[in-house]
Amino acid sequence: MNETDLHHFQHYQNSCPSAEAIVKNITWSQVSSNPALPAKLLRLFFHDCFVKGCDASILLDNPQSEKQAGPNQSLGGFVLIDAIKAQLEKQCPGKVSCADIIALVTRDRAVSFQFKASLWQVETGRRDGTVSLASNVILPSPLSGFDGLKQSFASKGLSVSDLVALSGAHTMGRANCAFVTPRLFTFNGNGGVDPLLDAAYANSLKKTCPRAPPAAATVEMDPGGSLKFDASYFVALKKNQGLFLSDAALLQDPVAAKLASGFQDQKTFLAAFVQSVRRMGAVGALTGNAGQIRKQCRAVNS
Ligand code: HEM
Repeated sequence: MNETDLHHFQHYQNSCPSAEAIVKNITWSQVSSNPALPAKLLRLFFHDCFVKGCDASILLDNPQSEKQAGPNQSLGGFVLIDAIKAQLEKQCPGKVSCADIIALVTRDRAVSFQFKASLWQVETGRRDGTVSLASNVILPSPLSGFDGLKQSFASKGLSVSDLVALSGAHTMGRANCAFVTPRLFTFNGNGGVDPLLDAAYANSLKKTCPRAPPAAATVEMDPGGSLKFDASYFVALKKNQGLFLSDAALLQDPVAAKLASGFQDQKTFLAAFVQSVRRMGAVGALTGNAGQIRKQCRAVNS
């Protein structure tokens, strides 16, 4: 399926008119309970869409499902999605897909809540996939250079502009130190610090992420604050304070670097992010009679 297959803003207008309100009300009523959640949801949406499309395959529970793959171990938001789905099944059984819930909750919790307004309209009408395999989980690597990132996004029909704008999601959340220490202590195997990393930032990172950090040690993705969705990722990036090699790589390409410069302006970034997150949300969407509407998000219908 391509982007044009997903073109309804109000897919549930007749079948479940309160769907979007239910998602928003449950989501916003739980905001204070988990400040780490917005980042988890944003990453969940990305990891769903990049593996077999935005079909909620990431939510399926089984011993070989996508959830079991390494990069998905630190995802979250599943309990909130279960609560939303349970309420929707009470209100309008069998109507609202788990894939649409992910898209809606991402908008409502990850980005919009802090602005106290819905920042964009979410296309709805996705259906749920029935296949979820850890072996399908191939995501861009934090060690990737620009060409690898560009290729990965292009394989989903996404542009360099989408790559740069969506990388701005790294304005939120935390990363395991294991992704960072190679840039701090063993760069190119010669014991040095990555020259693409700002020296003062590298020194401060070394305090949070020492040479042999505890397995659970994490660091803020964005030195400008990891709880707010804002343009500070790009401000930091331009100062060579992007956390991963894959962040720093955006400055290695002239077109991407120019976009990243422009995205230091909050309005410019938000407008671009909204466009790109909607494009990402259409990747591989199942529509029409494809897939199913799951009764619960963790299992295919029996
Ligand atoms: C461009 C290629 C990308 C790479 C290589 C990448 C890689 C990573 C890695 C390795 C982490 C740390 C995970 C952990 O330690 O648990 C992370 C965190 C995160 N990523 Fe990405 N990512 C990319 C793009 C994206 C996109 C497109 C989004 C969303 C639109 C996104 C959203 C996030 C968020 C919000 C976090 C923080 C998660 C948390 O706090 O739990 N990333 N990313």
